[in-house]
Amino acid sequence: MKLSIIILAAGQGTRMRSGLPKVLHPLGGRPLLGHVLDTARRFDNVALHVVVGHGADRVCDFFPDPAIHWVIQEQQLGTGHAVAQVLPAIPDDHTVLVMYGDVPLIRKETLGALQVIALNNEVGLLTAKLDDPTGYGRILYAADGSIAGSVEENDATGKQRRLREVNTGFVAAPAHHLRRWVDALDNNNAQGEFYLTDIIALAVADGIIVRGVNTKDRNEVLGVNTRAQLATLERCYQQRQAMACMEDGVTLIDPARFDLRGRLVAGQDVVIDVNAVLEGEISLGSRVSIGPNVVLREVTVADDVTILANCVIEEADIGAGTRIGPFSRIRPGTRLAQTTHVGNFVEIKNSEVGAGSKVNHLSYIGDTSIGRNVNIGAGTITCNYDGANKHRTVIGDGVFIGSDTQLIAPVNVADDATIGAGSTITRDAPAGELTLSRAPQETRKGWQRPVKKK
Ligand code: UD1
Ligand code: CA
Repeated sequence: MKLSIIILAAGQGTRMRSGLPKVLHPLGGRPLLGHVLDTARRFDNVALHVVVGHGADRVCDFFPDPAIHWVIQEQQLGTGHAVAQVLPAIPDDHTVLVMYGDVPLIRKETLGALQVIALNNEVGLLTAKLDDPTGYGRILYAADGSIAGSVEENDATGKQRRLREVNTGFVAAPAHHLRRWVDALDNNNAQGEFYLTDIIALAVADGIIVRGVNTKDRNEVLGVNTRAQLATLERCYQQRQAMACMEDGVTLIDPARFDLRGRLVAGQDVVIDVNAVLEGEISLGSRVSIGPNVVLREVTVADDVTILANCVIEEADIGAGTRIGPFSRIRPGTRLAQTTHVGNFVEIKNSEVGAGSKVNHLSYIGDTSIGRNVNIGAGTITCNYDGANKHRTVIGDGVFIGSDTQLIAPVNVADDATIGAGSTITRDAPAGELTLSRAPQETRKGWQRPVKKK
């Protein structure tokens, strides 16, 4: 039997106090709804229906997936009303599972347990025991211990409010039953809304068993209503990420100070020091060491690379045995070959650095090809921009560039050339020769320092 998942995401999220629709706020660098959709997509044979209302256009535009059936709920008249908007599109022989766009950490395995119950022609309801159940619906039991209903906090008696087992909202049911119960909902309640949760009592009245699944991991049922809750869930999510990395064999010096906003693939014996922020797709080879406060975004790193403290590396390819930092900035389009050294206060953009070459101190290398075994002296600048266009600098193998050199692009420095320190190189430098531009040094005999006037 096929599965239809309905994701409710029409609410405004007033308490976020944001111009952004709530379900687009990022968790681990990805919108809340993206997490929910990813979990939903892991089911086989699944039809995805997302109910949107506030900011519907922006939400739909963010997920250009033709497999998603978007349903607009013009007025938010309650969770039952939201589900009612989708049911006409769902065949009777489907199982329906209801999820929430703002509850991002729910696990597929937990939802699978609800699905199994619904496949058995019963209703699967996810519940949780919370220390503080404030704001949630409470689960009501009959004398024989079976679930009898769910009461919203605003409609609950004082005694019911003291119950700690809450309705998480996640529910699975056969479509043909659900249709009947949703049609029968009314809004005669404290909030004047059509409560989806009222289907529980309707199912019981129909003689259909409602079976509770109790989750022990509270985090997976936590929703985001405020920025404080978003921050709490971010930590939960990052804890999960950190655990998964460590299970894969990565050493995290402090898993509480690790942020992965994307996906990490790592070889053996990778060590990541504190406060690393990894974004997008990151691939690290074996025995890679990442120092404190390093930011990596869309980076591929080969084996035996050491990245020292405080480096920022984006959209770059780092060859085996290379050492970077501390305090290096590697910008998009950069490829460092094997065993290169890039040191402190060096910025490299859109450039290749050949095997064994060194750029160790205080340099800017932009739009440049550097050959093998090149030494770039401290303070070397490639002047790649004339105010209108960018130009390339080409440096051959075995070149030695003296300190404080400016290379005015476009310019070539051929193999084994040496550039004298302090030069401004405006024309190509020939292979194997010393090229320098330097004003002659003079000494003024007897020159006196000025003295301060009284
Ligand atoms: C709901 C449940 C409550 C449960 C809690 C768990 C109902 C009546 N109550 O309460 O028992 O403990 O979730 O978090 O279902 N939404 C729509 N359209 C609407 C109304 C809501 O799409 O017309 C969406 C919201 O965007 C949100 C979700 O449904 O993602 C839940 O709505 P919300 O108003 O937050 O429900 P709660 O009051 O939290
Ligand atoms: Ca509500």
